[in-house]
Amino acid sequence: MTYYEDFSPGSPNRLAPRSWVRSSAPTLSLGGDWKFKLWPHADAPLEDPADWDTLPVPSHWVLHGDGRYGRPIYTNIKYPFPVDPPYVPDENPTGDHFRTFTRPDWDVDRFVLRFDGVESTYKVWLNGTEVGVGKGSRLATEFDVTDLVVPGENSLLVRVHQWSSATYLEDQDQWWLPGIFRDVTLLGRPSARIDDVWVQAEFLDGVGVVTTEVSGSFPISLSVPELGVSVTWQSADEVAALEVGAVEPWSAESPRLYDCTVAAAGETVHLRLGFRTVRIEGDQFLVNGRKVMFYGVNRHETHPVLGRVFDLDHARRDLLLMKQHNINAIRTSHYPPDPRVLELCDELGLWVMLECDLETHGFEFDPSITDNPSDDPRWAEQFLDRMRRTVERDKNHPSVVIWSLGNECANGRNMAAMAQWTHERDPGRPVHFERDHQSAYTDMHSRMYASLSELAAIGTTGCAVEGLRPEETVRQQHRPFVHCEFGHAMGNGPGSLADYQAVYERYPRLHGGFIWEWRDHGILTKTADGTPFYAYGGDFGEVVHDGNFVMDGMVLPDGTPSPGLVEYAAVIAPIVFGDEPGTLRSRYHSIDTSNVRFTWSRAVDGVEVGKGELEVLPMPPGESGRFELPEEALDVAVSGETWLTLEAVSGHVVGSRQYQLSARGTVSVTPAKGLGGAEFDPRTGSLLRIGSVEISGPRLELWRAPTDNDARAGEWLWRERGLDRLEHRVRDVRIGDDAVTVSVRVAAATAARCIDVTYHWFGVADGVALKVDAVPSLGWDCTWPRLGVRFELPSVDQVSWFGTGPLESYSDSSTAARVGRFTSAVDDLNVNYSRPQETGHRPQLRSLELDGRLRIDTVPDRTGHRPGFSLSRHTPQQVAAAAHPHELPPSDRVHLFVDNAQHGLGSAACGPDVLPEHALWPAAHTFTLVFRSPA
Ligand code: GAL
Repeated sequence: MTYYEDFSPGSPNRLAPRSWVRSSAPTLSLGGDWKFKLWPHADAPLEDPADWDTLPVPSHWVLHGDGRYGRPIYTNIKYPFPVDPPYVPDENPTGDHFRTFTRPDWDVDRFVLRFDGVESTYKVWLNGTEVGVGKGSRLATEFDVTDLVVPGENSLLVRVHQWSSATYLEDQDQWWLPGIFRDVTLLGRPSARIDDVWVQAEFLDGVGVVTTEVSGSFPISLSVPELGVSVTWQSADEVAALEVGAVEPWSAESPRLYDCTVAAAGETVHLRLGFRTVRIEGDQFLVNGRKVMFYGVNRHETHPVLGRVFDLDHARRDLLLMKQHNINAIRTSHYPPDPRVLELCDELGLWVMLECDLETHGFEFDPSITDNPSDDPRWAEQFLDRMRRTVERDKNHPSVVIWSLGNECANGRNMAAMAQWTHERDPGRPVHFERDHQSAYTDMHSRMYASLSELAAIGTTGCAVEGLRPEETVRQQHRPFVHCEFGHAMGNGPGSLADYQAVYERYPRLHGGFIWEWRDHGILTKTADGTPFYAYGGDFGEVVHDGNFVMDGMVLPDGTPSPGLVEYAAVIAPIVFGDEPGTLRSRYHSIDTSNVRFTWSRAVDGVEVGKGELEVLPMPPGESGRFELPEEALDVAVSGETWLTLEAVSGHVVGSRQYQLSARGTVSVTPAKGLGGAEFDPRTGSLLRIGSVEISGPRLELWRAPTDNDARAGEWLWRERGLDRLEHRVRDVRIGDDAVTVSVRVAAATAARCIDVTYHWFGVADGVALKVDAVPSLGWDCTWPRLGVRFELPSVDQVSWFGTGPLESYSDSSTAARVGRFTSAVDDLNVNYSRPQETGHRPQLRSLELDGRLRIDTVPDRTGHRPGFSLSRHTPQQVAAAAHPHELPPSDRVHLFVDNAQHGLGSAACGPDVLPEHALWPAAHTFTLVFRSPA
């Protein structure tokens, strides 16, 4: 068996895994330009690198060379080659990386070569002598090269194979990106050094307790200057836990860190301690004695240009963006990130579920595959090795509160062994693995994409997994539950985040969860004619791929937060204003509200008429309270719609709510003489213009460009029923001086089921009203994407409206929407989703102005419901036909959609479909609009 196809975790001479720390010992970064040669096979000759190309390290070679070095491949579950473990195809792209370096003149005892991440298996030669083999793409490997490194110039060759036995354990849902993608470093190890250190800083009843485990050359001292702590241990036997007196605890909300050094005579290691104690008590997951609710996201390492190569600014910006959106936790799906991510989490405050680099999902893909690496002793060592390296590298971080064994592997003894080792090594953090449905060896019950009813079952009877034995169910009932993935954020969506949050809060055993996922993985590339775009699966000519399933983040590839992220921020906001104005509740885990500024503002018909600060006494974490609202805040206008908006701000908005104090005076639709300047086509009865504004329509529209969630739910039936190709037959046109009535039957080819629409136009004071009556025939058996009418205008640039905004919202994703007056350029109304789809709907429109030339008011129905609107330069048919934004055809039209209703969003791309209460089932609809040309 070749070294890249054997079951070993790497060569036996690798050094024992240890903490990634900041140290005073000398280091030499070997990043920079290397010589590079790509071979199509693994068993290439060792060549003279003189004529090779140049490639930066760290990098993924497929993201360089304009295709000369191959292209990225995206698959979700499937392996992009035959499942024949541990063998891989003969066609195995193999990148030889070469560089020279001068050995620094360090006063050290040993030289160590460290690789922080190489995908997937690699062999290293120093000065022509083999150093060893590394595996485990997102795990560090160190080799002692003291005997190989020479004074003066040294040559380093690293041969990287894209495919290897290790690939079978790294089947995460992401791009396959081979290469040396994390740092390569030469470390000088002084003779009096710290070999490894682990400082656990616990918070026990207000007091800090520091427990140190250190190996190296004694005497070794530890100091925490801020706490006046300074001890020196002469030998390992002396090392003992220290009580360090009163400390401020670390939490995601208050990430208090204390600088700490651990020093031997020749090396000082710098750590940042965060005092916190993680415990599971019964079915509660506690940090510092208080239950943690995870308002989390799954975070992959992904950058539109660099792939998985780390960029500190990019990572910091992303983490800050999370914090600004009230996110408090990260699951490092599905491998340890660059170690600096954890430093950022410690510093900025994020609870981390740190996951091992392990996934074998593709073994489930073809039912004829009976192998299960998780339960196969041949893989045991490689499984365990991965967990050891995960825990050892990151054990010092206060932000890490849970270890996760991996993602989507089958259950089995190798997983159990990893858990057992982890429990023994680190009793201070629980172990998670979603596929341990029986909780046989893990500490938390976990699921992904459970429905609301399953969550309710988990919250009450304990378990929604079928086939458990009674004792297993009982075990489940006594575990905290975490939803390790939910709210699949692919394209427009996800829906129902507020419903999820409500369920998490209803059942004490539930601890929230982690949205799938933070960011789209789009790779910035170009079309043949040089147009830049963000690529997804299939865009690089892959034979097997999973399309845009890799674009399922709440942040678009260019870094733009999606409305889904803004919705999540509102749903999980730490300050919750109660149903009754003047009541509130804190979701904070550990801080009070003394840093929160509270304000009120009151608006009549969207125009602010008053505002002020509120006095709210600091409220302890997790508590509810009341506050006084000034009388002025609650004043109700004599006429018009009055809204009170309360806001809580602590750096960013941490809570907000609107209360409607009075409804609007109804728009007058009393018939008047004339048609308010409207002109109609005498043959079809279609509108041609209103005053000087050219506008044609209306045309009934049921179709929306399917969202990614629709694509895996209603879309096929919608298409089957012809909703995207409806035909319109005018049955009757009556044009009078004061009214126009047009009857139209709308149906799709081959079908008899139809909708009869009546467009009834009539003059009103200085305008013209349109009453739309849409009545479906019998025989409809599918939901409708939308029910509305569409108009066409030659151009519109700027719109302003009184209604909901500022962003799009849908019936199951509307927590972030507020009622107000907004203005926008037409092109900014819609979201540039990675695959074009429905976007821009803003329900409950009161009135809309197009370029200040045409105003459209809506009339509320008996329940106060009003239609919503959207504007687009393309029809839904055009949008649906484009696979990427740049494929949308040029357009010289603007389409105005006035929808009386839209189907919800749901999360069916991966998870539950639209809930019944948000589904749009065929029914008769009536709505009225009033058109005016403003003076
Ligand atoms: C889960 C998986 C994730 C991702 C997601 C769908 O099954 O754990 O890695 O594939 O589904 O996008």
